[in-house]
Amino acid sequence: MPASAVPTPPADQALFTFLDRCHQDIQRKLELLLALAIAVEADGLTPAVQLQARELTDWFNAEPKQHHLDEEKHVFPALLASADEDVLQATHRLIQDHGWLETDWFEIEPSLEAAADGNGWFDPTALRSSVEVFQQLYLDHIVLEESLAYPQARERMDPAQLESMGVEMAQRRAVRDAKVAKAAKAAKA
Ligand SMILES: [Fe+2]
Ligand SMILES: [Fe+2]
Repeated sequence: MPASAVPTPPADQALFTFLDRCHQDIQRKLELLLALAIAVEADGLTPAVQLQARELTDWFNAEPKQHHLDEEKHVFPALLASADEDVLQATHRLIQDHGWLETDWFEIEPSLEAAADGNGWFDPTALRSSVEVFQQLYLDHIVLEESLAYPQARERMDPAQLESMGVEMAQRRAVRDAKVAKAAKAAKA
């Protein structure tokens, strides 16, 4: 192999690197979401705020759902097979967090939708405070996944499980993307 060639990571590393990258994306979007909530409080619904609200609403409605499914279908089941009480307890907490994160998002989403439409019926201070709660829970959740869940799952999954995990993750996104493309085409017609 030439010295300059980048080695292809093995399937397990690639999948868990992908999940780590999803966490980085989520953290970046959470920072943008908080900045947006602060801007709404300070300056109201400017055109820039409305555009950002639309982009973030669309992103949070789509991407975290796929990431949580990746974990619920592949990472958590590997951990629930463990006999280690600490691992089991942490996994149950992570599963419960996904429910709380969804509830937090459902609380934020209508205000953000309204902001995107230039409709100021919501309380900007309540929105900022909800975003802060959402962000903190997500950050704590990510720390627990990266420090415990991912390393433990990586150790427990064999190559066949990793392969089927990669296939399912790719197929699910392909189905989702095809649906989005079909809906966009129908909207244009
Ligand atoms: Fe998670
Ligand atoms: Fe995660």
